[in-house]
Amino acid sequence: MSKEIFLKEDTLITSKTDLKGLIVYANNDFLKYADFSMKDVLHKPHNIVRHQDMPKTVFKFLWDYMKEGKEIFAYVKNKTKNNDYYWVFANVTPSMDTNNNIIGYYSVRRMPNRKAIETIEKLYSDLLKAEQQGINKGVEALKDFCKSTGKTYNELIFSLQNSK
Ligand SMILES: Cc1cc2nc3c(=O)[nH]c(=O)nc-3n(C[C@H](O)[C@H](O)[C@H](O)COP(=O)(O)O)c2cc1C
Repeated sequence: MSKEIFLKEDTLITSKTDLKGLIVYANNDFLKYADFSMKDVLHKPHNIVRHQDMPKTVFKFLWDYMKEGKEIFAYVKNKTKNNDYYWVFANVTPSMDTNNNIIGYYSVRRMPNRKAIETIEKLYSDLLKAEQQGINKGVEALKDFCKSTGKTYNELIFSLQNSK
């Protein structure tokens, strides 16, 4: 049976990738929670921790924002090496050179607000269903959800993290 692992209040899981999204740095908390060694993760794609409950739509948003040079916030359910899982509240940012060219990506993950996870689990299960009709249906469903709250995607995720 797969079990949930919980981040602590002071946990900071960070990683850096190159332009292809291959991991070029992972901190100790990244390795500890995913249960990997540095050798296991270096120059591997981030989907080594991808959990099957994560909708493709969220990663499409993530990469679309990165390519536009914008930061994104996201709740992500990640898988450990032995198929346990842990929820994170992630901030993902593109890194720039002095000419504003994107030279890599960086992610900082913290303990999520538990109340937000209830909302997100329901939303992600709806997105997975919508995606069965194609990724565009997932994107539409996520945009509709944001619209129904009167917030942009990042505003919505950020407000969920700060909700009491
Ligand atoms: C800096 C950065 C951090 C990422 N962190 C994660 C992560 O923690 N978990 C995850 O599943 N995907 C993460 N991704 C997204 C992956 O690159 C990938 O899009 C996702 O795992 C879906 O995999 P797939 O496209 O092979 O289906 C991250 C991407 C970037 C640029």
